[in-house]
Parts: sequence; C-alpha cells; structure tokens
Amino acid sequence: MAVQAQSPIDTQALRADFAVFDELLNGRPVAYLDSASSTQQPRQVLAAMRELSAHSYANVHRGVYTLAERATAGYEGAREKVRAYVNAPSNREVIFTRSATEALNLVAYSWGLENLGPGDLVVITELEHHANFVPWQFVAKKTGAQFVHIPIDDLGELQLDTLDEIASRGNVKVVANNLVSNTLGTINPVEKLAAWAHEQGAIMVVDAAQAAPHRRIDVQALDCDFLAFSSHKLCGPSGAGALWGRRELLEEMQPFNLGGEMIRSVSLERTSWNELPYKFEAGTPAIAEAYGFGIALDYVTAVGLEAIERHEHELVAQTMDRLAEIPGIRVFGPPADRRTGIVSFELQGVHPHDVAQILNWEGIAVRAGHHCTQPLMTRLGVAATTRASFYLYSIPDDVDRLIAGLHKVKETFGA
Ligand SMILES: Cc1ncc(COP(=O)(O)O)c(C=O)c1O
Repeated sequence: MAVQAQSPIDTQALRADFAVFDELLNGRPVAYLDSASSTQQPRQVLAAMRELSAHSYANVHRGVYTLAERATAGYEGAREKVRAYVNAPSNREVIFTRSATEALNLVAYSWGLENLGPGDLVVITELEHHANFVPWQFVAKKTGAQFVHIPIDDLGELQLDTLDEIASRGNVKVVANNLVSNTLGTINPVEKLAAWAHEQGAIMVVDAAQAAPHRRIDVQALDCDFLAFSSHKLCGPSGAGALWGRRELLEEMQPFNLGGEMIRSVSLERTSWNELPYKFEAGTPAIAEAYGFGIALDYVTAVGLEAIERHEHELVAQTMDRLAEIPGIRVFGPPADRRTGIVSFELQGVHPHDVAQILNWEGIAVRAGHHCTQPLMTRLGVAATTRASFYLYSIPDDVDRLIAGLHKVKETFGA
C-alpha cells in the first residue's frame, strides 16, 4: 500500500467518476489494465456529450439558428482545447479526425503522395504502431521512395547511432515516430529525431496517441511538423482524434477527403478549397464526440499530467519489481524510469491469450496479442505478448490482483 501513500492522485475520489468500477464482472470488480487500448470515460464526459446531443445539437458551421450556433460553439470550443493541450500556435492548425490513425493517414496521403519520389527515404522505427507504419510503407511503395527503419536495442530503445548510415542511403524526407511505444511504453527521443530530421531537410511526424494521455505535449518544444492523437485514450469517446500540423505545410497540402464543408466554391469547371482547418474536414464531423474530447482534455488537465505521470510510474515500477519475482516471466522494454504506464510480458509456456482468458475469469482486463506492432514482435522473437497498462484511475490493488492472477495462471498450466 506504499504506492497509495505516494500517489499524487486521490484515486479513491476519482474512481467515483467511472461507473464501471461499481460493477461486478465475472463476480469481481474490474481491474481494468487495458487503458493503452482505450480508457474508461468519466461521468463528466458522458454527461456533457449527452447534454450537447439533447439540448444543443444541430449540424455545425451551417445554420444561423440558435441550435446550430450552440453546436458550432461546442465543436469549435473543443478545437481550442486541443490547441491549448498541445500548445499549438493557432487553432487553424488543429484538424479534427476520427482517430490518430486517420490523422496519420491524412499526412501520409496528402503530404507523402505529393512530396515523395525515387531516391527519397521515409524513416520509421522498429517499434511503430501499424497506424504510423502501414500508411508510410504504402505511400513509399506508391511513390518509389525507400522505406527504412531505425532499429531498436534489446531494451526496446532506438539505436540513434544508426542515423548517419541511414542518411547515407538517400534523401531523408520524412521521419515518423511514436513519442511513446504502445507495446513497451518506451519514451522515445522525439526532440532529437526532430532536430535530425530538420538537419536532413525532412519533416517530423509524431504519433502521440500513447503519449498525449500521460505526458505534457508541446508541439513547439518538440519542434515537430505534425502530431496526431486520439480522444479515446485519454478518457474521451472513440470516433474523435486530432492532427496538429504546421500551417505552412497544411496550406500547401491537397485535401485528404473531398466533399461538403471543405470547399470554398464549386462549379462545373473547378472547385477551390476552404481555409484551414476546414479544408481537411470534409462532411459532417463527429460533433458530440469532438465536444466530449474537449471535456476529456479538461478532465485530464484538472487531474494534472505531472501527477498522472508520477502515479503511473509508481504502479509500473511496482508491477515490474513483482513480475521479476515470478519465475518464467520475461518483461519486455526499458526500465520503469524510461517508460510510461505500460508493461508487456510473456509467461513461458503459456500463450498470452490463455493468460488473458484466465485473468478475465478473475475480473482482470489485460490485452494479449501483437498490439498492432508486428515488426516489433518479430524483433522481440515472439508472436504476441500480454500487456498491462495503467491510467489515472488505476490503483495498487490492480497490481496485487494481476500478480495473484498470474500465479493462478501458472498453477493452471503447471508453468
Ligand atoms: C502508438 C499508437 N499509435 C496509433 C494508435 C492508433 O490509434 P487509434 O486506434 O485511436 O487510431 C494507437 C492505438 O493503439 C497507438 O497506441
């Protein structure tokens, strides 16, 4: 219980905001250890979305009547909250998307297809989520650019000493990296990569899906060119995400989706594009979800990102220490002080899906699989791992139950 004493978050009070913790699943309260996948949503977010949908709902930007004005104010207010959250210079640079995945596809298609060609290099890393890997691989293939990766060492940290050799292979045009690995929790040196990318004349694309919920994000301090993240990983609803991009780049880019909202004028002969950010927001957006995203940012900000970081660190450190005492467990990734609240491991002789299944019987929700990082799985020499991930509502009892659950798995399988 030492962790509880040290935690900068009053988890007991805060958990009252999350209805799921009052419920029994398989006869037990849930130990929710899958927040890296999607977080739970507090009543403040759910109530705000319901309120907007019930009393202030209409399509945004189009109507002059009161309901449309209220909906537009809610939607644009959320954009301002996203801007402030990542310290972007202007909310014209903030584009609402469905998700981080859509945001990264937007950059790969709209920037990549126009700016890449033979002789160019698209540089990603061995620990990217598929969302920041597959779009770049696809666009590189389409444009004739080379798709190259920065390797990781055995602790899952980027081998930056390979950068010179990589640069010697061609014109580095894009460097794309996650700020935090969703599988290992590794905090990646994105500022260094951004500086290197700019020395090469390349753009730096940051996948912050796994960082934005847990660490303060400042696009100006990172000195990146694009940054993507999702609402559903920071207490908001699914169906909303954001892309921040440098204005000069966004201005030059072609739209990603075409249709209503993103046009300035349309005639039989030609169509011209709307101003930023609407050029990249074709069609009716996810209005209540964007609004809920903004309320979630308020919620996380009120808890405090430094507090969240320290709270998760305590839980992860405790988890790693206790996993190390269980024979047959191999933990992947760097030491606790160089990761966020994510621990991936394997239990020798037991498939991760079986581990997750038995833990589920105990009311413990963990993720088993490749976590959308198959190249990383190949590097680690496994097909899948079991992953426990923490967030602001996680408690030391979750760790106790995970450890007890793993002993049960071992007994069941004689492992
Ligand atoms: C590092 C990372 N990038 C991108 C994504 C994709 O996010 P979304 O599914 O919200 O588009 C995820 C989701 O797990 C992630 O962890």
